[in-house]
Amino acid sequence: MRCTVFGTGYLGATHAACMAELGHDVLGVDIDPGKVAKLSSGEVPFYEPGLADVLRRNLDAGRLQFTTSYDDAAAFADLHFLGVGTPQKKGEYGADLRHVHSVVDSLAPRLDRPSVIVGKSTVPVGTAAELGARVRDLAPDTDIEVAWNPEFLREGFAVADTLRPDRLVLGLDRTSSGHERAEALIRELYADLIAAEIPFLTTDLATAELVKVSANAFLATKISFINAVSEVCEATGADVTQLADALGYDARIGRRFLNAGLGFGGGCLPKDIRAFMARAGELGADHALTFLREVDNINMRRRTKVVEMAAVACGGSLLGANVAVLGAAFKPESDDVRDSPALNVAGMIQLHGAAVTVYDPKALENSQRLFPTLNYATSVTEACDRADVVLLLTEWAEFVALRPDDLDPVVRQRSIIDGRNCLDRDVWTAAGWTYRGLGRPGN
Ligand code: UDX
Repeated sequence: MRCTVFGTGYLGATHAACMAELGHDVLGVDIDPGKVAKLSSGEVPFYEPGLADVLRRNLDAGRLQFTTSYDDAAAFADLHFLGVGTPQKKGEYGADLRHVHSVVDSLAPRLDRPSVIVGKSTVPVGTAAELGARVRDLAPDTDIEVAWNPEFLREGFAVADTLRPDRLVLGLDRTSSGHERAEALIRELYADLIAAEIPFLTTDLATAELVKVSANAFLATKISFINAVSEVCEATGADVTQLADALGYDARIGRRFLNAGLGFGGGCLPKDIRAFMARAGELGADHALTFLREVDNINMRRRTKVVEMAAVACGGSLLGANVAVLGAAFKPESDDVRDSPALNVAGMIQLHGAAVTVYDPKALENSQRLFPTLNYATSVTEACDRADVVLLLTEWAEFVALRPDDLDPVVRQRSIIDGRNCLDRDVWTAAGWTYRGLGRPGN
């Protein structure tokens, strides 16, 4: 089969490469000629484990190409995926749909035969129906069906999540004459996944859009739940890591996404819960999601808590202190620093008058662009040189494997804050370090 994918960010580039991996002929489309040139030469413009191999294999096989030309894209296939970003609007909670609209507005008038546009981006409920109407206005003489196939991939696992998803969801406009053709095309595209017994659910458009935001809202809630319990643990001297293990054995709860710590960040969870609240408000159902405001508040409170812990570790004030920050990406195995809790904390600590030095194995370049006034080091030991306190804020394997011996020779004070509860507290305290973890005794 042939398809195009509009947008070549984390979502679009992965989807394009993985559809080619399934044996299809794929054209990735982006307005940024720099990205198109990089991808065409086999280079992934961001860090995503395993993606470069899939990209190169399929470029070499001739199944995958990239372009900036909408004319070429319209001519290439009858099936077009939207994988562009839907960031948070500046100064508002709602999602900014300008990229989605601009793709549809440019593409629809160029389509001259029956076609299907399938959204993958995370959008406020009602967007797909609105795009359907827009497409009918823009190309009244062409039969263009709009469907929604939300993406659930996690950064760091994007290839595996695309080739072996937990489920496939396809939202269709069942009032439209073309919806059966759209479903047939998508079923054919995903035939290998469906044959591998990956659940394939068809829904209406609104349900498909809501599945995605509800999934992210649930995950955010689960993280904030354990972080709220963390606050109570701190007030009583209990240990949230043991508590989470004990909770997790209950199969109805499950251990995943119960890691208490600095909380969630990234390009999805924070903006998705905010956009979900904003959309519910527009629909007159804001009361239903007010709890998500608290989910957001709990999450942000963890960041200020770490700043307070750092001040305590430095004798009560951060003014003039030397602070080492290990981790800048919003999570390990990613170079993404969008709404990164680690960088947010680093920035706040700097505002309190400390000298902050950051090290991250993959996200330094992106961090420097966003937070140019922080100091950056090229290794753990360089970052920790003469540090009054070391903050571990992203649980990269390299940091989890650290031993007190590694840092003893360079730090000024043996004091560590484990913002992700990923170190062995006993090992560090036995070596004479002051260990502070979130939701754990003695912080
Ligand atoms: C998320 C969803 O998981 C994915 O399904 C959706 O398609 C996009 O949004 P992603 O943003 O890549 O994926 O990251 P995820 O692995 O979900 O982690 C999100 C944040 O939560 C990270 O900052 C992570 O550090 C934090 N987190 C995760 C916790 O604080 N505790 C946990 O137990 C799990």
